[in-house]
Amino acid sequence: MSQESFAPVTGDWYYPAPEIVRDANIPDYEAVAQEAQADLQAFWAKQAEQLDWFKRWDQVMDDSQAPFYKWFVGAQTNIAHNALDRHARTWRRNKLALIWEGEPGDKQTFSYWRLWREVNKFANVLKSMGVNKGYRVTIYMGRIPELVMAMLACAKIGAVHSVVYGGFSEQALADRIEDAQSRVLITADGAWLRGNIVPLKETVDEAVHRSPVVESVIVVKRTGQEVNMEQGRDYWYHDLANLPIASPICETEVMDAEDPLFILYTSGTTGKPKGILHTHGGYQVYTSTTLSWVFDIKDHDRWWCAADPGWITGHSYIVYGPLILGATGLLYEGAPNYPYPNRWWKMIEDYGVTILYTAPTAIRGLMRFGDAWPNRHDLSSLRLLGSVGEPINPEAWRWFHRVIGKERCPIMDTWWQTETGGFMITPLPSVGLKPGSATRPFPGVEVDVVDEHGESCAPGIDGNLVIKTPWPSMLRTIYGDPDRFVNQYWTAYKEQGWYLTGDSARKDEDGYLWIIGRNDDVIKVSGYRLGTAEVESGLVSHPAVAEAAVIAVPDEVRGNVIYAYCIPRTGFAPNDQLIDEIKQHIRHEVGPIAVPSKIEFTETLPKTRSGKIMRRVLKARATGQPEGDLSTLEE
Ligand code: WTA
Repeated sequence: MSQESFAPVTGDWYYPAPEIVRDANIPDYEAVAQEAQADLQAFWAKQAEQLDWFKRWDQVMDDSQAPFYKWFVGAQTNIAHNALDRHARTWRRNKLALIWEGEPGDKQTFSYWRLWREVNKFANVLKSMGVNKGYRVTIYMGRIPELVMAMLACAKIGAVHSVVYGGFSEQALADRIEDAQSRVLITADGAWLRGNIVPLKETVDEAVHRSPVVESVIVVKRTGQEVNMEQGRDYWYHDLANLPIASPICETEVMDAEDPLFILYTSGTTGKPKGILHTHGGYQVYTSTTLSWVFDIKDHDRWWCAADPGWITGHSYIVYGPLILGATGLLYEGAPNYPYPNRWWKMIEDYGVTILYTAPTAIRGLMRFGDAWPNRHDLSSLRLLGSVGEPINPEAWRWFHRVIGKERCPIMDTWWQTETGGFMITPLPSVGLKPGSATRPFPGVEVDVVDEHGESCAPGIDGNLVIKTPWPSMLRTIYGDPDRFVNQYWTAYKEQGWYLTGDSARKDEDGYLWIIGRNDDVIKVSGYRLGTAEVESGLVSHPAVAEAAVIAVPDEVRGNVIYAYCIPRTGFAPNDQLIDEIKQHIRHEVGPIAVPSKIEFTETLPKTRSGKIMRRVLKARATGQPEGDLSTLEE
């Protein structure tokens, strides 16, 4: 389903100030892009040399079993070594790794030394629970430092983390536990959000009831309310961390570059979430290189990626990328407008944040409160801004640029996916920008907009966005389902060997790329990725719903909202109470972000003769557009 595009194909140019270009880590995009193109493997080997390896690779890239590519073949490493161990031995041990602020206003800071010791402790706790190399550990927490520690602790001992975003429901959590077969789960009693407690532990109890593969639950105390602790299964982290076993020294497991680092579930075309698998070696090289070049990270910077560590943006650019670079990052627990809409702007002033990376939906949400809130604060520390998650409409771009960046800070509009691990299409601070365009591919990445036969589309023509060259942090597979991996990404352009992104896009005369939106049955709501099938199967699992179809409808703040069309089962009278009940049901089955903003009952759904729901027709009706070609519509 292609979504509305607000992006024009031409736009005004914005050029960075000369000192930004002069001081940039990469002042000349063209030169580096050419270097990469001339010899891709030598280019990535050079970036990999910036990191520590226990054993050097024999081969940079192995494409002999494509699309099952391998990177840094034969090398031994551990991402936790590069993110922490090596810094704990240098002057960086004294540098802040993480500045954290809780929603109620409590604060903590972690130097590299302190974070390293805390992670070691956590790693020893996990070991004492029987977690070993290759074990999958599910993590379900709010944005607190222990979430970051838990991820790094897993990496350190070679366990594979699967972080499930704290906004997911018990069923979504249970499905992910089941798919990963996690015997250990890490959670917290609760999380603060908009002044309320999100009852994480309650959700975990229900999820573990539905997916009993979990043997042990480690619970971090955050909110302090009474929670159910099941004897022999649930343990408070602070109790375990006080045992002699939890020493602050822990040896780092030697990993093969291609050993799995994490699984992160994301929505796809079918109802079952896909476990995207990333590995230690290539991922560490790609995330650190992209972060250093695109956001120009310097030792004096204070970097704030305002995403959730439970999404790929947080994995790559809150946890791994910044720590590998030895940067100082900020993590904030709560809502941007709590207690007032100036919360973020106040934090930028308080901490002297120099780079802010966020999502269009957050920008639009904050823009609604007017300029007075940011204008109350000194935002002069900001040097660069960034955007991710969906196309940024030029109006939001300009507001961000003018009101937050004071027309001084270039905006890095980064296009990428859970599957790509890191930025793929993105400006560098030294290049000219056009509001609404993610500009050009990162050096070493070759992309194109093509038609169904693989012919390159002319400027201004919509087509499928494909990636033509392999890159170090490409997903290695879908966990437990290599066939789906091949079918989903590598079959549409099998002959050419291109990766299908699932997005549609167009190029302009300058070769700049404009992302239009998802081309498949994935909806972006507030930047979160949801599959129509996930929401639909949630709907039909309610006893009153016989059949359901959902569509994305453009929304000023959230990018898209969901409209649902349901055929009631006989015996159920559609009314407002039933609609509320179904919304509640979706909240529990899928999660709050999946709740449709409108549910309409209908007697029929438009279908093709082969029985496929024509969402395009529903969408045209909902948005008052012409219904287009109906020749395949069933009578
Ligand atoms: C969309 C998020 C336009 C796109 C990192 C992609 C974007 C999907 C941008 C992946 C952007 C992400 N401009 N669209 N700058 N960034 N997208 O896996 O549709 O949650 O396919 O990864 O988000 O979403 P995911």
